[in-house]
Amino acid sequence: MKIFLTRKMPDAGMEILKRAGEVRLGVDSETSAVPRKSLLEGVQSADVLVSMLTESVDRELLEAGSRLLGVANYAVGYNNVDLASATELGVPITNTPGVLTDTTADLAWALLMAVARNIVPADRYMRSGRFRLWGPNLFLGADVSRGGSGDPKVLGIVGFGRVGQAVARRAQGFDMRVLAHDPMLKDLIAKTEGVEYAELDALLAQSDFVTMHTLLNESTRHLIHAGSFKKMKPTAYLINTSRGPVVDEKALVEALRQKQIAGAALDVFENEPEMTPGLAELDNVVVVPHIASASRDTRNHMATKCAENVVALLRRERAPNCVNPEVYDTEAYRRRLQQQ
Ligand code: GLV
Ligand code: GLV
Repeated sequence: MKIFLTRKMPDAGMEILKRAGEVRLGVDSETSAVPRKSLLEGVQSADVLVSMLTESVDRELLEAGSRLLGVANYAVGYNNVDLASATELGVPITNTPGVLTDTTADLAWALLMAVARNIVPADRYMRSGRFRLWGPNLFLGADVSRGGSGDPKVLGIVGFGRVGQAVARRAQGFDMRVLAHDPMLKDLIAKTEGVEYAELDALLAQSDFVTMHTLLNESTRHLIHAGSFKKMKPTAYLINTSRGPVVDEKALVEALRQKQIAGAALDVFENEPEMTPGLAELDNVVVVPHIASASRDTRNHMATKCAENVVALLRRERAPNCVNPEVYDTEAYRRRLQQQ
């Protein structure tokens, strides 16, 4: 059986893959993406494709993979995959849910704290030798807990899936008032202790921190746009660890320049790895290169989870983390199984 892997994943997963079949690597580098041509060529003889969020698994690629028994995406998000085409062509798609929930929620908090307390500019200030004298106005930031004012701060969580819920749990320790918005999970939010449901506009208007945890799809693309910043408090911060296009990044830069909001902390970008011109020049922004799930243990766990999906796909069994299970009832899928 042939497994085409676009780039190397952590060893824990590689070992499982090597036992399961003949592994071909798209590119043997940490820093360059697999060229599209090699990907289109490599997928032709592959039984399973292992993709990363940097590759577009579109219709052309899926059609080129005529023998494919499935695609295992090394990520929880799968907006890089054309799911409708995959289902139509009979290709199961898998992801790596659950294992990165806490790690991602931790990074959302790290970013939130960093931007609220000016950690990045303060660090730059220290390193450049500018700290000569302590002063009462040095790097004044915002409280996350009740702090000096004594009032609880309001955390607005947009998207109440696993990560959104994990972020909400952490907010209890900061004694925050927690609002959540998720049209698909209204009931769950209503049942969750310490969390109140809010429509998006109300959440934006009331929150001191707005943190994004939605999937990226047509209904969430530019969910946060120019009009959203006008509704937010001038003292509020935006945190995004979901997917870049959920926020209109140009509008964000404009809102930050005009001080419509106090700051932003971003793990993901609209045109990753590019940043919208002007973003990097702003002082009230913290930016990191899509590292929300990047802990050693979690990346290993994602790799084993991804590899276990590959093993099931190769055995023509139902994969543990299939995101388009309706595919199993399609004629196109049955034809694929018989073809081999
Ligand atoms: C990372 O962004 C993921 O979706 O796993
Ligand atoms: C991530 O684990 C999510 O789907 O919320």
